[in-house]
Amino acid sequence: MKDFNMQTTPKRYTITAALPYTNGPVHIGHLAGVYVPADIYARYQRLQNKDVVFVCGSDEHGVPITIKAKKEGITPQEVVDKYHAIIKKSFEDFGISFDNYSRTSADVHHKTASAFFKKLYEEGKFIEEVTKQLYDEEANQFLADRFVVGTCPKCGFEESYGDQCENCGTSHNATDLINPKSALTGNKPILKETRHWFLPLDQYEGFLKEWILKEHKKDWKSNVYGQCKSWIDDGLRARAVTRDLDWGIPVPVEGAEGKVLYVWFDAPIGYISATKEWAEREGKDWKPYWKDEDSKLLHFIGKDNIVFHCIIFPSMLKAEGSYVLPDNVPANEFLNLEGNKISTSKNWAVWLHEYLEEFPNQQDVLRYVLTANAPETKDNDFTWADFQARNNNELVAIFGNFINRVVVLTNKYYDGTVPEASAFSEVDKQTLKELQAYPAVIASSIERYRFREAQQELMNVARLGNKYLADEEPWKKIKTDEARTKTIMYVALQIASALSVLSEPFLPFTSEKLKSILSFSNLDSQLVWDDVHSKTELLKPGHQIGKSELLFSKIEEDQIQKQLDKLEASKKANEAMNKTVEPEKETIQFDDFTKLDMRVGTIIEAEKMPKTKKLLVLKVDTGIDVRTIVSGIAESYKAEEVIGKKVTVLVNLAPRKLRGVESQGMILMTETAEGKLAFVNPDIDGVQNGESIS
Ligand code: MF3
Ligand code: ZN
Repeated sequence: MKDFNMQTTPKRYTITAALPYTNGPVHIGHLAGVYVPADIYARYQRLQNKDVVFVCGSDEHGVPITIKAKKEGITPQEVVDKYHAIIKKSFEDFGISFDNYSRTSADVHHKTASAFFKKLYEEGKFIEEVTKQLYDEEANQFLADRFVVGTCPKCGFEESYGDQCENCGTSHNATDLINPKSALTGNKPILKETRHWFLPLDQYEGFLKEWILKEHKKDWKSNVYGQCKSWIDDGLRARAVTRDLDWGIPVPVEGAEGKVLYVWFDAPIGYISATKEWAEREGKDWKPYWKDEDSKLLHFIGKDNIVFHCIIFPSMLKAEGSYVLPDNVPANEFLNLEGNKISTSKNWAVWLHEYLEEFPNQQDVLRYVLTANAPETKDNDFTWADFQARNNNELVAIFGNFINRVVVLTNKYYDGTVPEASAFSEVDKQTLKELQAYPAVIASSIERYRFREAQQELMNVARLGNKYLADEEPWKKIKTDEARTKTIMYVALQIASALSVLSEPFLPFTSEKLKSILSFSNLDSQLVWDDVHSKTELLKPGHQIGKSELLFSKIEEDQIQKQLDKLEASKKANEAMNKTVEPEKETIQFDDFTKLDMRVGTIIEAEKMPKTKKLLVLKVDTGIDVRTIVSGIAESYKAEEVIGKKVTVLVNLAPRKLRGVESQGMILMTETAEGKLAFVNPDIDGVQNGESIS
């Protein structure tokens, strides 16, 4: 057995980010939880000159895709083709620096996953068993995973899926659900026999206890460790790794026709397939990244994926025997949006591809805000007000402002040439010393997966620069002390250069722009992370920098309002959809209907009924006469708004008195989703008052 305590410096980094389900686009919750932290980490390691492969891809199998296809009346393949393209492009445009973004429908993946299954099968690592599974007689289908909902046996949540409860994260078998219901028809399923292959997780309990509970107690995040411990303590049971479905990777053994691999069996193997595909393209060998002990395997995921990455996939890897195990699984909690849970089906989300269109060239603003608010230890909230504030008060006012001052002054005083420093003051020395400490400070936070903290430290570099300039006031000294001003500007330029290097993992677009402003391409060699610590001089006197360009721009109120309006529209649409429609009333005969005398009329006068909230007293021209009608619409319309409106009037309703005023008829109204009353409006060209409605 491998010595788990062997701590060596990794030779290479195999970094994976959860494969997104290809049943919808990517939103800010995915980005904050998985892709932005993974990207910061990968970029940082590359800057350290480490051998890195960073892989991801589309998760194209599984029930959510089949359900989406059914809903849209298209094939699952069409669904995945559509979203794979959107997701891949939006990641690219957002600067997520995957070395390979693959997909699980790729041939290399089908082969890799099949071979993996086959090996375990041939080595007798599965239990093959005919068991009774949930079956929907009307849909003619076995109900696994998201095809079935019921009460979670662990936490009592009533809408748990067949394989996992979204409330408590537990993974279970569909037959464990209390009161299961088919998600296809709503029917109560029956039990029907079927043959499947099970991974006996109980047999891996000893291994998992040793590996997670002993080995990783200290270095895994407490949310991750805690969940694992609770599952292991509860006792693990065999889990089926095959399904009776027609969408997925066929089970590669005889007698398994019509069966496919469970999506959570094939998807994580997608990390391996994506690495193979990359290696093939780059002319490299994929094996060391997955098989050599000196590789560091890291899975970036959201908390709902913990069980699969910490218990099931490692047990699969262990069963296979030739792979390394993850060194860490830095899972994040969830990001909410304006106080509510992000939801694809409710369209309560900020979609990445839409953001990229609506905020062109502002990728780094979103990256910055998502990292600043990253749900690292608890669920967090994204609000547009915070987005605006962080951009305007932090990126523009601190980072952007510092760089702008340095570049503008260097151009103004020295035509853009880095000046020569003379004697350093104590403050200069202290400032440069502080600057040199930052690479280690930021690195230490990144190495411990504390990206918010790391980014705060990055901003402290900009703060250091701002404070230095504010204290030293080169714009005043230029009038009295040229030599001192040169030294100040020299120091400030070193800070600006450091920022361009240290910001790269967090704000890659800004870093690039800044490097271009500082003309880094004219340097003898490109600066790397450690240079900020080890070199006392990043930019030499005489180096020519470029003109100032704004790194960030202010985000205005109307842009934010537009986003809030969009969310409000989603909320309204959901409310409207959820509003229960009143059941139909009892049948009437045609004669009953013809008794109603409904006419087109026009409101010609209106006033509020004194001392009431709801009533307006109207004078209505019905074509027959002008009469008084009292109408309960004052909460939806002001008196002056309704004058001149064409309305539908029930004219032969027996008069009745309301607050002492006789109402001679009724105006027909309906109600909008927001609860506003609205006229049933017969305002059609050429229609006259008195025209009957029948
Ligand atoms: N598609 C899954 C989700 O979005 C994640 C799959 S991760 C992998 O929750 F390991 F299976 F690839
Ligand atoms: Zn639960």
